[in-house]
Amino acid sequence: MTKIDVLLGLQWGDEGKGKIVDVLTPGYDVIARFQGGPNAGHTIEFGGNKHVLHIIPSGIFHQEKINLIGNGVLIEPRIFKQEIEELEKKGIDATRNLYISKKAHLILPSHRMMDAANEQAKGNMKIGSTLKGIGPAYTDKIARCGLRVGDTLAEDFRERYIMLKEQHLRMAQTLGFDVTTFRIDGLTLDQYEAQWMESLKTLQRFRFVNSEYFINQCLRDDKKVLAEGAQAMMLDIDFGTYPFVTSSNTITAGVCTGLGVAPTAIGRVMGITKAYCTRVGAGPFPTELFDETGRRLCELGHEYGATTGRPRRCGWIDMPALRYACMINGVTDLFVTKPDVMNDFDQVCMCTAYEVGGQRTDEIPFEYNTMPISPVWQSFDGWHQSLEGISAYDDLPANLRTYLAAVERQAGVRIAAVSISPDRKDVIFR
Ligand code: GDP
Ligand code: IMO
Ligand code: MG
Repeated sequence: MTKIDVLLGLQWGDEGKGKIVDVLTPGYDVIARFQGGPNAGHTIEFGGNKHVLHIIPSGIFHQEKINLIGNGVLIEPRIFKQEIEELEKKGIDATRNLYISKKAHLILPSHRMMDAANEQAKGNMKIGSTLKGIGPAYTDKIARCGLRVGDTLAEDFRERYIMLKEQHLRMAQTLGFDVTTFRIDGLTLDQYEAQWMESLKTLQRFRFVNSEYFINQCLRDDKKVLAEGAQAMMLDIDFGTYPFVTSSNTITAGVCTGLGVAPTAIGRVMGITKAYCTRVGAGPFPTELFDETGRRLCELGHEYGATTGRPRRCGWIDMPALRYACMINGVTDLFVTKPDVMNDFDQVCMCTAYEVGGQRTDEIPFEYNTMPISPVWQSFDGWHQSLEGISAYDDLPANLRTYLAAVERQAGVRIAAVSISPDRKDVIFR
C-alpha cells in the first residue's frame, strides 16, 4: 500500500500551488482536491498560455492522469460548467479523466447571496470573501442541511433545493439584505438560478464516485496519489487568523476528512511558500509593506487575485508563520516560489520573530488580530541578477542561496525545489 502525498500552501494562499502540482503530475497517477472550491484560483502556464483553475484539480492538463474532486470540496455547478467550457476551448475533454465525489457539497446561488449578505452585515469586520458562497455552503454542510453532488440525481432534489433556498431568503431578510438588487455576474438570483440548474446537466456528464473507496483502492494498488490543497495554512478555519479565514481545514489533516484517507496513509507533505509574502482580503499580516517596496512586489510579482482580480497585499516573508505552518502540517519538503520577483532588490528582509506587548515571541499569539505585532527583521543583500535559464540549485546567485539557506534553517525543513518563473519548465529541483 502506498501513501498519499500532500501539497499545500503555507502562507495566505496564491503561493503557486497550481503550478507546482502541474509540474509534479507526471510522477503521479491521481491528483485529488480535498477542500475549498471556487474561491481558489490556481494558475498554470506553459507553451505561452495561461490557465486558471478554480474547482478542477491542477493535474487536468495531463490527460492520462485521473483528477478527483473529493468529498471535502464545494462545487458551484455554473462555475464548474464555465471551467469545463474553458478547457474544451483548449482541446481538453475532462469527461474522460475527471471524477467527482458523490459526497461533495453544492454551492447554491442563494449561498452566494448569503455570502454577500453576511459580508454586508459584518460592516467594518468584513472578511473580504471571494463571494463564491464558501462560508454559507460549509455552514449548511455542518448544519446538516446541505445538498450534495449525488443528491442531484434524487427525485426530490428540486424540493430540497427550494426548501434550502427559502431558508436562505428568510435569513437574508432578517439581515436586512436587499435581494431584489442583488446580482451574480450581472444576473438576478432567478436568472442565475436558471443557468445554475442548466449547469447540472454538465456536472452529470462526469463520473460520480464513492471517492473514499476509489482513493483507498488506488493506494492499495500502489498508485501514486497527490492531494492538492487550496487556500493555505494561515486561512485554515482552526489555525488561521480567525475570523479572517476561509471555512475549511486547509491543512494536512483536511486531507483525511476531505478524501477519506487515514492519518497513517499520509506520505510526504510538500509545503509551498513564496520567497516573500502576500495576502488578499482582510485580516492581520504583520510583515505587510505599505511603501514603495510593497508596491514593487505587487507590480513585479503581478500580485492580482486569480479569482477576483483584487490587488494582493504584499510584504516580506514571515518565519514565525512559516514555522507554525511546518509544525501544523508536518511539512517534509519545502518549495519556494517567486524569488525572481526580487531580482533587482538591493535588500531582502525576513521576519524572524515577533514583538507583542513588549515581549519577543516565536509563536503565533492568540491575540494576532487584536494586539499590534512588530516583526523582528533580518536583512540580506540582494543578488541583482536574472535567474532566467538557471537549472541547477548550485547555479543560483550566492546571495539568493544565502537567503534560501536562512529560510531553510528558520523553517527547520529542507528546500526541495525553487520555482523561478510562472512557466511549467522553470522549477529547479535540488
Ligand atoms: P495558487 O493559488 O497557489 O495556485 O497560486 P496563484 O495561481 O493564485 O498565484 C501564483 C501566481 O504566481 C500565478 O500568477 C503564477 O503564474 C505565478 N508564479 C508561480 N510560480 C512563480 C515563480 O516562480 N515566479 C514568478 N514570477 N511567478 C510565479
Ligand atoms: P488559492 O487556492 C488567497 C481568502 C479571501 C478572504 C478569505 C475568505 O488560490 O490560494 P472565502 O471566499 O473563502 O470566504 O474567503 O480567504 N481566500 C484566498 N486568498 N488564495 C485563495 O485561494 C483564497 N481563497 C480564499 O480573499 O480573505
Ligand atoms: Mg490562487
